[in-house]
Amino acid sequence: MKDLHALGIRFKDGELYILDQQLLPQKEVLIRVKDVDHMVTIIQGLKIRGAPAIGISAGLALARFSRGMNDRDEVRAMALKLRESRPTAINLMLVIDRMLAHLTEQNFHSLFEEEAVRAFDEDVILCDRMAEYGTELVNDGDGILTHCNTGRLVTAGVGTALGVIFKAHEQGKKIHVYVDETRPLLQGARLTAWELQQAGIPYSLITDNMAAQMMKAGRVQKVFIGSDRVALNGDFANKIGTYGVSILAKYHRIPFYPVAPYTTIDFTCESGDAIPIEEREAYEVRGARGSFGDVCWAPENAPVCNPAFDVSPVENVTAFICDKGVFSREALKHGALKNL
Ligand code: MRU
Repeated sequence: MKDLHALGIRFKDGELYILDQQLLPQKEVLIRVKDVDHMVTIIQGLKIRGAPAIGISAGLALARFSRGMNDRDEVRAMALKLRESRPTAINLMLVIDRMLAHLTEQNFHSLFEEEAVRAFDEDVILCDRMAEYGTELVNDGDGILTHCNTGRLVTAGVGTALGVIFKAHEQGKKIHVYVDETRPLLQGARLTAWELQQAGIPYSLITDNMAAQMMKAGRVQKVFIGSDRVALNGDFANKIGTYGVSILAKYHRIPFYPVAPYTTIDFTCESGDAIPIEEREAYEVRGARGSFGDVCWAPENAPVCNPAFDVSPVENVTAFICDKGVFSREALKHGALKNL
C-alpha cells in the first residue's frame, strides 16, 4: 500500500502511525499501531479522534492487519471490533462497511487496501471543497466562534470547520477566532489553539461559558462548527456543548454553520432523535488527564453525566456547508440531503 501522510495519520513502509492527540500540544509522539485491539484502544482513548479521522484510520488498520488472513469470519470479527469502537461518528461505519462489501471477493485484501486509501485521498478533496464553499460566507473583519477541534488533526486534509477558517485566512481575510475550550476533554484548548497558533491565525481561547458574553458583546459574527453525524432532516450531532452554542447563536441572530462532508451524513437516519450518543467515563468530568498529569477536583466517586455529543436541531442551523454545496435551513427542511 502506498505511503500516506496527514497531520494525525501516517502510513509508511506498510505500517500505520497515529499522532497521539492526548499528548498534544506539549508532546508530539507518533504511535506505531500494533494490531486491531491496539487500534481500538487508540480510538477509544481519543488519541485519534474527529469523525473523518476515526473512519480513515480504522480503515487503514483493517487493511493493514487483515493482510495475509484468509479466514473471512475472523476478518469480519476484526472489522466489527473497529466499527463498534465509537458509536456516534458515522464516518467510521461508512469506511468499514465499504470495505466489508468486498469481503466475499477473492482478492479482498487488495480491495480493502484500495478502499482504505480511497477514503484517505477522497477526504483531502472533500475538505478542500468545504473550505471553498465555506470561505464565501466569511467577511473581512469577522469574529468567528468555533467549538471542539475540526482541523488538520481530524481529517486527511485541511479540516472541516477549521478548514474554512484556514482558507479565509489564506485568502487574506482578517479574522479573529474565538475558541471554546470544549470541556471535558479540552479539544479546543489543546488542539484548536495549537493548530491556529501554528497557522498564525489570531485567536482567543475562551472557556465554554464565555461564548454568550462574546456574542452579546458583538465580538462574534459567525459560528463554524463540525459534525459527527448529520440526519436527513438537517439535525446534527457534534461535540457536547454545540447545542448550547446553537441556541446562543440563534438568540443573538448570529449565523450558525455546521461544516461536514457527505461521509458524515447518515442516509438511514431521518432525524437527530435517532443518533446514538456516546456516554464516556466519569473521571473525564471529575477532573482532567493529559500530558500535564492527572487531576481530580470533584469529590472522589462524585456521580457524573458524561454524554460526549449532543444534537442541534435544524431550526438552529443557518446553512449546512458540505462538499456538495451549501444547503440553507429551508432546503434542509425540504429534504435536500435525501437527494444527494
Ligand atoms: O470526541 P471527539 O473529539 O472525537 O469529537 C470530535 C467532534 O465532535 C468534532 O467536532 C467532529 O468530529 C467534527 S470535525 C471532523
